[in-house]
Amino acid sequence: MTQSALSLCSLDLTDPATFIENDVHEFWRAVRAERPVYWHEPTARNPGFWVVSRYADIQSLFHDAALSSTRGNVLDVVLRGDDSAGGSMLAVTDGPRHRQLRTLLFSAFTPRVLGEVVEKVRHRTAELISTMTGKDTFDFAAEVAEQIPMNTICDLLSIPHGDRADLLRWNKMALSSGHADSTELDAIGARNEIVLYFMELAQERRERPGDDVISMLATARLDDRPLTVEEIAVNCYSLIIGGDETSRVSAICAVLALIENPGQWHALRTGEVSLESAAEEIIRWSTPGIHLARTAVQDLELHGHTVRAGDIVTLWNISANNDETVFDQPRRFTLSRSPNKHLSFGHGPHYCLGAHLGRAELRALLHALVSDVGRMELRGTPRPIYSNFLTGYDSLPVHFEGR
Ligand code: HEM
Repeated sequence: MTQSALSLCSLDLTDPATFIENDVHEFWRAVRAERPVYWHEPTARNPGFWVVSRYADIQSLFHDAALSSTRGNVLDVVLRGDDSAGGSMLAVTDGPRHRQLRTLLFSAFTPRVLGEVVEKVRHRTAELISTMTGKDTFDFAAEVAEQIPMNTICDLLSIPHGDRADLLRWNKMALSSGHADSTELDAIGARNEIVLYFMELAQERRERPGDDVISMLATARLDDRPLTVEEIAVNCYSLIIGGDETSRVSAICAVLALIENPGQWHALRTGEVSLESAAEEIIRWSTPGIHLARTAVQDLELHGHTVRAGDIVTLWNISANNDETVFDQPRRFTLSRSPNKHLSFGHGPHYCLGAHLGRAELRALLHALVSDVGRMELRGTPRPIYSNFLTGYDSLPVHFEGR
């Protein structure tokens, strides 16, 4: 291994600043080539863990029963101990219970059932883009991207309009911490607020069910018993946390990438590339969730290393999605890329439940941009998200000129 790759491997992947201060793509390129699996040394605050970076290894590990999600699927959470929602929340449940919960929730996420929700997404997005077009400078993140996914999930859950701003605020604090100055305590407080909010709503919907996902969960029986209000609450929370920031980040990244790649914007506007293909490349390019964490439940061999039961294993989607053995010139933003089997939605039993919705949101944005906007211009410095789980920007000052 070269000296430079060796020093790159000493980057602290638990520290959000690492992802802002370094060229992470250069880092992953070196790691894939020279240390495809390595042990991340413990830091002053955290134990060590395995780092896996190649596409083929990650894709296969997503299916491997030797790795479990029940202690958590995000590094920060697993490093702190167990995820308190393990065994109750879909994303952090394994085995037969996961399959039962997934089948139940999946019934609300088929393209057919989502038809009405997707229609609302198209309307909302078209309206937002047409309002913003021609305005002077505006923050695309706050004024457009924030308004779409959260409202979509809230429609799905029938959340009263008056409560939506609170949910969005708590969710931003809970996952990305947003800024370097927000504390762990703020994040825990925000997570508690969300769960408490949903517990109350679950109780209400159990007594007076409507035609929404919370009511569906509140009236369902699994293993011959109803779900507890806690189980309902954490699964509602899972939809919000899984579907808000990820979609928001990919929308922000879409606009920035189209501004930085005028040739690709032209290809999109002239219909040279389809909305479907463009959305897929944006999802690969942005890879909103850069890693997933698992815990080994039995020993396994990886590239000559023995991973012991109990070890934490991290799978870096951001690296897999830029693996040059799978994607030709991965750091080129190519809207017509085909095939494009990225891992942004994960793979295997935990494959993203909201993938259809996430894609539909992005296609609605691209359609609205192509319909209304002639030229997009960056009017300031995008502000990066401070996180080792989410990547992208939470502020994007821009100007849109009409067609
Ligand atoms: C799972 C990414 C949109 C809900 C996942 C996973 C990834 C992911 C990587 C796998 C987690 C794991 O293996 O541990 C994304 C991205 C999105 C997106 C990049 C948008 C661009 C959504 C939306 C929703 C959603 C819109 C819901 C409204 C979920 C849920 C799971 C999940 C419930 C857990 C599935 C399971 O464990 O069986 N997502 N997601 N996601 N996602 Fe998404």
